[in-house]
Amino acid sequence: MTPEAAVEPPLRIEGLRFGWGQGRHALQDCRLEIPGPGLWMLVGSNGSGKSTLLRLITGLLTPTGGTITCQGRPALVFQNPDHQLLLPSCGSDLQLALPEGLDVGERGRRVASALAQVGLSGLQQRPIHTLSGGQKQRLAIAGALASDATLLLLDEPTALLDPESQKEVLELIHRLCHRSSSPLAALWITHRLEELERCDGAARMEAGAIGPWQSGESLRSSLAPLPVGGAER
Ligand SMILES: Nc1ncnc2c1ncn2[C@@H]1O[C@H](COP(=O)(O)OP(=O)(O)OP(=O)(O)O)[C@@H](O)[C@H]1O
Ligand SMILES: [Mg+2]
Repeated sequence: MTPEAAVEPPLRIEGLRFGWGQGRHALQDCRLEIPGPGLWMLVGSNGSGKSTLLRLITGLLTPTGGTITCQGRPALVFQNPDHQLLLPSCGSDLQLALPEGLDVGERGRRVASALAQVGLSGLQQRPIHTLSGGQKQRLAIAGALASDATLLLLDEPTALLDPESQKEVLELIHRLCHRSSSPLAALWITHRLEELERCDGAARMEAGAIGPWQSGESLRSSLAPLPVGGAER
């Protein structure tokens, strides 16, 4: 090994194919590389294969062909946190996410740290049903942090949130992806074009294939509806 071995990207996908069994493949020869830590966004119309892609990356589905190389641990965050928060209190839910083999003291410290990182310090005993939608989504993100994930896969995480909570969750992920110590990589799926402002790169997914990375601004302007009266010339 050379003294400065090349750093592997957090995620590399090549030639990925997947079909649900009938008709056209949901993913066809799909290629994607997340080059490093940062907030990377994916935009695409309904049914273009975005959620299927995230399920393949986390191993919930098995590809028909191609390769997925993931450095570190991926964790999925769903659109609806009620679909992934399982236990009654914030602390018990996070305990479930922790890696095995830690002693009680360390488990407590990691739960407290995960809560602090998402702005929910001290809420170990809080029943989950008493949290707001935005707080629940931040707790789901704390679960990913507690599990030692280095690659966050977020499937429209703000779709059910009001504008204020939407911003909080976006800023939280942006912060985690740009912190000076161990910044994370995040793949964020969205239909909200205004969120592209905060990304480090954006790509468009269409009919099971992913386009090249471009700036959020350039993808946004290529997708934004034309101003009234400006469409035909
Ligand atoms: N469980 C399933 N069984 C059969 N087909 C499925 C299943 N889940 C998804 N599909 C199909 O796979 C294709 C891609 O769906 P997917 O949910 O990945 O799209 P998406 O880009 O996430 O869409 P959306 O923006 O609506 O969330 C669609 O044609 C969909 O009907
Ligand atoms: Mg989807």
